[in-house]
Amino acid sequence: MKKNLATLIVILLLSSASIWSYQRFALYQFHGSVFQEPKLAAEIVLRSASGPVRLSDYQGKITLLYFGYTSCPDVCPTSLANLKLTLGNLSPEEAAQVQVVFVSVDPARDTPEKLGRYVQMFDAGFIGATGTREEIDLITAAFNVYYKINNSESSENYSVDHSGFITVIDRSGYAVMSWPHGTPPGEMSEDLRYLLRNGMPISAQILAGPTYTPVVCAVTLAPAHIRGGEWLYQHHCAQCHGSDLAGNPAWQVELADGSHLPPPLDGNGKAWQYSEQDLLQIIKEGRSLDKPMYMPAFKNGLADWEINFILTYMKSKWSINQLNYQHGFMTLTPQATQTLVATPSPTNTATP
Ligand code: HEC
Repeated sequence: MKKNLATLIVILLLSSASIWSYQRFALYQFHGSVFQEPKLAAEIVLRSASGPVRLSDYQGKITLLYFGYTSCPDVCPTSLANLKLTLGNLSPEEAAQVQVVFVSVDPARDTPEKLGRYVQMFDAGFIGATGTREEIDLITAAFNVYYKINNSESSENYSVDHSGFITVIDRSGYAVMSWPHGTPPGEMSEDLRYLLRNGMPISAQILAGPTYTPVVCAVTLAPAHIRGGEWLYQHHCAQCHGSDLAGNPAWQVELADGSHLPPPLDGNGKAWQYSEQDLLQIIKEGRSLDKPMYMPAFKNGLADWEINFILTYMKSKWSINQLNYQHGFMTLTPQATQTLVATPSPTNTATP
């Protein structure tokens, strides 16, 4: 009786541990659209009520960049109010690490002082900035923002068309994601909380990437090889990595002795992030042989062509983007863009 109770407690503990690890390590799905290649945010000096502003001033924080104008009837006030709610959902410590910057594309009517008063109505921490027409054209182009001033010659009450998305710039100054206009504050704060804790994971960038035509992959993944690999896999690997390649649910948890349970070999694991050579090496030589839960070496049990068949079967469970990444067709190192510099004009050099 006592023994049964102890077993029950152990089972309960183990299953709650694996549910916990599942939730903790499942791939996070961003609400915004993640950029496949993060770009270093353009360095353009703008003017705010409290002096010159450049985006690099906020490195170390997450910057939320939004373009509009103060006479904007509905879109801009809604977005700024939503950003206020978004920050309100975060803890004060988290919110202190986020900077909202509102850039006016209408410098003729929006002076830095007017902008300052406008953003303060939403939140005392928001920054309102603008520049010369030239500078605005540079910064909007850099962030793929569209704007058009309608009939500004004919009346004082003109309207301005402009993109309504919000660009997210990470702590190191890279634009990593945008939220379309109307993204609910709850979703934006969830993304922010994730970014503040983990940064932008490379897996999210890969999955955001375009899907390439799998020419090479289609050739490599011959159906007969997949079938052969599946048979070999079921006989040699399934007992540890699972008959569906899902691995042990608690694979990310480091056990007391520093070892790990067998990880998934499908697209949910990390196997696709290894090079072909590394995968062959792991399977032939095994891993962590000094630990109780180890990955056995197969160099004496399987021929190279058999291991290649198994790899083909594993690859048939990866997405096209994961395959291309593994084949080296996609590089995901952040690409720095060249710094944009506006040609100085008389208004540009005047400091407020
Ligand atoms: C006795 C159980 C066991 C068997 C059988 C087994 N593995 Fe593993 N495998 C593991 C463990 C445990 C790990 C994690 C080792 C570590 O990181 O410490 C692992 C890791 C791996 C990795 C690295 C994945 C990653 O994300 O780091 C690959 C690839 C792999 N195994 C492939 C295979 C293949 C292919 C087979 C069959 C030919 C196989 N394994 C058979 C237990 C096993």
